[in-house]
Amino acid sequence: MTSWDEGFADRYETWSAHMTEDVPFYVGLALEADGPLVELAVGNGRVAIPVAQATGRSVLGIDTSPSMLALARAAAAEAGVELDLREGDMRDLEVDEPAALVYCPFRALLHLPTWPDRRRTFERVAASLRPGGRFAWNAFAFDHRAAAGMDGQHREEPVPHTVRYDVVDNRIDIELDGGGISSLWWATKNEWLGLIDVAGLEPEALYGGFEGQPLDADNGEYVFVVRRP
Ligand SMILES: C[S@@+](CC[C@H](N)C(=O)[O-])C[C@H]1O[C@@H](n2cnc3c(N)ncnc32)[C@H](O)[C@@H]1O
Repeated sequence: MTSWDEGFADRYETWSAHMTEDVPFYVGLALEADGPLVELAVGNGRVAIPVAQATGRSVLGIDTSPSMLALARAAAAEAGVELDLREGDMRDLEVDEPAALVYCPFRALLHLPTWPDRRRTFERVAASLRPGGRFAWNAFAFDHRAAAGMDGQHREEPVPHTVRYDVVDNRIDIELDGGGISSLWWATKNEWLGLIDVAGLEPEALYGGFEGQPLDADNGEYVFVVRRP
């Protein structure tokens, strides 16, 4: 099944407008990275553009969606920054030069439906990093109560939509009014730790937010930083 419907693209800017706190976090990692930068699921360039501006370097951005890449191209041209935008699937990540940083903001790894999809992605990331290179991403902590509470609820903000929760598939579908579905398969902490392990990566940090908060009941966003040994 599709995890990201093209119908989402024309409302993505409004959908993502509230999400700004992750940008300084990923920019900070990029400033520390001494080499090529890669964003998985680059979308409209929301993070890649400030990263390119702050570092003065291009970012290789991969995304499956032609409409999202078109938004990123237009936004990069307007901002006067260079992005290397390529249509592709993160499960098949290939880089020209080993990366110093691969990052995947805004829970986009949750668009991968199965453990094998994620394992493949983590293995491709590990193979694309230089020794000591970092991989960073963030994702919701799996919370069945939150998912159950949202199931069937219609919300007006930030874009009118309904959330549906498929318990047996641990999947959330965000259905925009008028069309456009985004599906997210929630993952537990142990799934992430397993992926890091099988890909031969080393955990460096697991925060509960973008300012380095401890992961606890009040700070339930997994913010992972791992590295290739
Ligand atoms: C929530 S957006 C994130 C966009 C951007 N990184 C940001 O932080 O605003 C999710 C993006 O994931 C992309 N996507 C979904 N599955 C993908 C896959 N298997 N490989 C590459 N991109 C994918 C979608 O096309 C969409 O642009």
